[in-house]
Formats: sequence, structure tokens, C-alpha cells
Amino acid sequence: MLTLTNVTKKFGELVAVNDLSFKVEDGQIFGIAGPNGAGKSTVYNLITGFYPYEGRIEFNGRDLSGMPPYKIAKAGIARTFQIPQIFPSLTVEKSISVGSRFGSRDGLDEDHVAEIIRFVELSEEKNQKTGHLNLLGKKKLMIGAALATKPRMLMLDEPMAGSNANEIKALMDLIRRINGEMGLTIIIIEHFMKVLTELTEKLLIIESGAMICCDLPEVATSDKRVIESYIGDAYVER
Ligand SMILES: Nc1ncnc2c1ncn2[C@@H]1O[C@H](COP(=O)(O)OP(=O)(O)OP(=O)(O)O)[C@@H](O)[C@H]1O
Ligand SMILES: [Mg+2]
Repeated sequence: MLTLTNVTKKFGELVAVNDLSFKVEDGQIFGIAGPNGAGKSTVYNLITGFYPYEGRIEFNGRDLSGMPPYKIAKAGIARTFQIPQIFPSLTVEKSISVGSRFGSRDGLDEDHVAEIIRFVELSEEKNQKTGHLNLLGKKKLMIGAALATKPRMLMLDEPMAGSNANEIKALMDLIRRINGEMGLTIIIIEHFMKVLTELTEKLLIIESGAMICCDLPEVATSDKRVIESYIGDAYVER
């Protein structure tokens, strides 16, 4: 479904993504992990067309290189951002409608908006201003806004950050339902290894922009190089 081939991104002298190749299969939940500054978010920025790069990125056989972000969104790729992006003065319903309008060719699809609000379990809060939502609510809203564009693949950037155990469980359930019931392919960047091993079918570990390994989560997390560079690190407990 998504294929990166020899993708490299340099910011001046810094090689943020270094000759990276990997493949995400249709219907998969695919994880990406690695230390701070490893290049994880940059990989998302390249896939979604924020910066030019060397190499090739294909989605369902289509070459995404040089495509502007809105066309990549129309091709069926949606994402959330590491730093929560909400419009605090809009209501939940209105915020999801913005996503729906963005994804649709023929304007607002009210039934779809209502369905998404139910799916992310924000029905009771639908007329609330998003600035009043708690952390879990804000995260569900961001995922809902991404889903409203009717994507085929959803990319999540550290969706669990700052969440407690109950919130993590709720988000994991939601991600599983998006994959299982909506049939979306999912890529998730996450620092919580336990979340990744429980949720994903395949796990890519990167360091300094380059792949350390890409394998079944239980294989990836027991890889000697991964343990040395990453698992031993404090933020596994974070
Ligand atoms: N627009 C940019 N201009 C210059 N350097 C950048 C830019 N975006 C990212 N970088 C650099 O590229 C490297 C990779 O950053 P990136 O945000 O992709 O890391 P990350 O793996 O997502 O880290 P974190 O776990 O902290 O979110 C870092 O050294 C970062 O400072
Ligand atoms: Mg990041």
C-alpha cells in the first residue's frame, strides 16, 4: 500500500532521514519507534508532502513525489500531529465538519460527520467548544477530524503522549476499531513500547534517520542493536 524506497531528507548538513526503505501492507497496523530526533515525524512530513526529498514514495502504486499536501490527502492519507492542533473556539461538531469538507469533493457530508462523532465517542460533547475538552477528548477530536477526510490510511504521531493508563487503553481501543471496523491501514509513531508491541503487526525502529530494523514487534524489541540504542533508554518507562 505504502512504499518508501531509498528516501533521504537533509536539512542543511543534518541528514534527518537516511536512505530509508520500508513497506506498509494494506490493512496493517505499522509502528515506528526511535529516540528523540530520530527522524520519525520527518518521515510523516515527507509522506504527506511537506518537504521535497530524495528517493521515492508510492501509495497504492501512485508516485507521491512532488505532490502537494492537499492532493496527498485526497489520495487517501490522513494524519494527526505530535503537538495537538485544535481550534479551541469551534465546537466539536464544527471541527469535525472542517475535516469532512476538506476530504469531500461535494461539500459537507452531515451524515458522515455524525457517524465520525459517534465512532470516536464524542456525541455528548458535540456542541462543546473544543478548548473545553479534556486531553482524551482532544485526542479523539484530532483523530475524528483526520477520519472525516475519508482516508484509507491514517498516520498517528505519538497519540499517547501525556496520557494516563486509562486514556492509553481508550486510545488503543479506538485505534483497533479504526483498523478493524473501518478497515483503515494505520501507521503509529509511539514512545511507549508496550503500546507498540500490543498494537502493531510490524515495527520499524530508526535512529539518526536510518533503519535499525523492521520486523515483527517481538523480534524488533529483542534485537540487540535496538536494545542498545533504544530499549535501554529511560523513556521506555515514560
Ligand atoms: N524543518 C526542519 N528544519 C531543520 N531541521 C529539522 C526540521 N524538522 C526536523 N528537523 C531535525 O531533524 C531531526 C529529526 O526530527 P524529527 O522531528 O523527525 O524527530 P522525531 O524522531 O520525530 O523526534 P521526537 O521523538 O522528539 O518527536 C532532528 O534533528 C530535528 O531537529
Ligand atoms: Mg516527532
